[in-house]
Amino acid sequence: MAAPDAVARAAALRREIERHNCAYYVLDAPTVPDAEYDRLFRELQALEAEFPELVTPDSPTQRVGGRPLDAFPKVHHAVPMLSIRTETDTTAAGARAFDVRVRKELGLAESDPPVEYHAELKFDGLAINLRYEHGVLVAAATRGDGETGEAVTQNVRTVHAIPLRLASDRPPAVLEVRGEVYMRRDDFERYNARQREVGQPTLVNPRNGAAGSIRQLDPAVAAQRPLSFFAYGLGEVVGWDDAPVTHGATLDALLRLGVPVCAERRVCRGAEELVAFHHDIALRRDSLPFDIDGVVYKVNRLDQQRALGFVTREPRWAVAHKYPAQEELTVVEAIEVQVGRTGVLTPVARLAPVFVGGVTVTNATLHNQDEIDRKDVRVGDTVIVRRAGDVIPEVVAVVAERRPVPAPPRFDILQSYPVCPECGSHVVRLEGEAAVRCTGGLYCPAQRKQALLHFASRRAMDIEGLGDKLVDQLVDRELVHTPADVYRLDLATLAGLERMAEKSAARLIAAIEASKSTTLARFIFALGIRNVGETTAKDLARHFGALDALIGATPQTLTAVRDVGPVVTEAITQFFAEPHNLDVVAALRRAGVHWPEQTGTQESAGILAGRTLVLTGTLPTLTREAAKEMIEAAGGKVAGSVSKKTDYVIAGSEAGSKLAKAQELGVAVLDEAGLLVLLARQGG
Ligand code: IVH
Repeated sequence: MAAPDAVARAAALRREIERHNCAYYVLDAPTVPDAEYDRLFRELQALEAEFPELVTPDSPTQRVGGRPLDAFPKVHHAVPMLSIRTETDTTAAGARAFDVRVRKELGLAESDPPVEYHAELKFDGLAINLRYEHGVLVAAATRGDGETGEAVTQNVRTVHAIPLRLASDRPPAVLEVRGEVYMRRDDFERYNARQREVGQPTLVNPRNGAAGSIRQLDPAVAAQRPLSFFAYGLGEVVGWDDAPVTHGATLDALLRLGVPVCAERRVCRGAEELVAFHHDIALRRDSLPFDIDGVVYKVNRLDQQRALGFVTREPRWAVAHKYPAQEELTVVEAIEVQVGRTGVLTPVARLAPVFVGGVTVTNATLHNQDEIDRKDVRVGDTVIVRRAGDVIPEVVAVVAERRPVPAPPRFDILQSYPVCPECGSHVVRLEGEAAVRCTGGLYCPAQRKQALLHFASRRAMDIEGLGDKLVDQLVDRELVHTPADVYRLDLATLAGLERMAEKSAARLIAAIEASKSTTLARFIFALGIRNVGETTAKDLARHFGALDALIGATPQTLTAVRDVGPVVTEAITQFFAEPHNLDVVAALRRAGVHWPEQTGTQESAGILAGRTLVLTGTLPTLTREAAKEMIEAAGGKVAGSVSKKTDYVIAGSEAGSKLAKAQELGVAVLDEAGLLVLLARQGG
């Protein structure tokens, strides 16, 4: 006789499981991770095993899956869709126990050869039965309760991986293909990233993405979801000549019929080869392009499968061997932000340590404020954490019923972090953007490496040799805080860094020195102001002529510049409103960074407006690129060849045919000094 508390516990478990079942199967809105559900289910199974009188006909242990949605027509499966027994012992002992059982049931003696198995992956999606009649897909159904499923033919037709017609001249009269509709991880990530961008709800996980899409009443919506399919077995078969006699050969045949079959499968002889498969896949689980929750072992010979038969909807010839769950429950202990290389503040949940997807997770991304709002994640909440593949762990949902009472306040990034935790600069959320950003720019250490690389890049200050390995060392060793510090580096310091020798250090020093002589456009671009690219930097340089004019510009004067709209205006205003940024600019000037400046606002297009110049030979101090920039900054155009339309040819040493051509056509020829005089007139 069961103790009263066992009776009560079983009833409570049944209610809870039913609730989760409904949320999962019927509403496609899971309330707890699978692992938690499995624990509840196993506890109930154990209780019922101990006290068989507790088993009721409506116990969730007595049926396979969920109830079909009323909105889809119901379909009776010609051959029931079975489920697989799960080996709870996930160590090698699980595979050995299965092999022992199979051998016993088949009446094999120890001296008999090893049983041949087919080892494959256990895909994490939605089971589907595809019915082909004379090679044509006529119906598709979900498993439902195993006997009756839902007709989801319309939606299944939208899955490109599923053939609408089998590739055969003589297809079987009836061929039911069974397999899993799933969503690849990269498709899932891409889909969610796009949804996040447009502020639309994201999918909880790929499995839910697959299940939700197939059980979506509107096939047009289903069609937008990137789904895939793998076959793993058969249902009803009528009139298949030369039908295969093993499971492995069946999958090979399906592949030839144009049905997708996963390549990760292997014929194994005996338990040890199953153990090796399980181990091998475990090592590569993270790098698979889709989620799996385990592997499946099947007796390969179909005659042996028939001999083994099944018990209560679970075949004796198959077993699932699971891996650690990729979703678990834990508690959010705090919400903090991480400042990325582009200054975006990403909210991160600090979690009570939890073992998920094979590792202990203590942090999970919350993506951005919109996602926090949509999921309503608060400190103290119990949440579902997902870690699959190499993707950063994320909080997928809150278990609302476990929220502490009284409810903790909502989390708002801007409220909690009005200034950047890395540098103390102001934090802003630009209109129309999901991201919250630090305005610290060059000053913010989190952004410093990226900013330094940009500063030194070819189209900015053009410091050759200042690459990412070096920037990492300079920032990590606190040798460089702002780009101005680059101009304080000496030979000894540089030569002491990894991968640096005296010679390369000397070359770098020379490149740093040479970069001091630049143009205003390059300098503006080098500052790394958001949304100010090379072209905008040139336009700004041409328009304002001098840096101080740009710094002092009002939003009105800024929007007067060609192609400068409100977004760029706001970025520039914010950048120069930050005292740190002005300090960096001043330090760079003190360090000797200079460019030809023009005073006064250049409403005219520049002294060389409408003029075409040609550069030839080597100039004594300016690089060709620098000369070109200066000419462009003054409104001129640099052409590659001399014609009657050329206004000036700027000739250096070893000028050749272009100089001769200029003389022939009577085009004015200047040297570098002449060019500089011409440009200096710009300000006058
Ligand atoms: S065979 C013989 N093979 O697991 C039983 N099922 O509990 C018929 N599943 O929902 C299933 N990968 O959708 C089989 N390689 C695989 C599988 C697989 C995933 C799913 C299946 C079903 C559940 C069975």
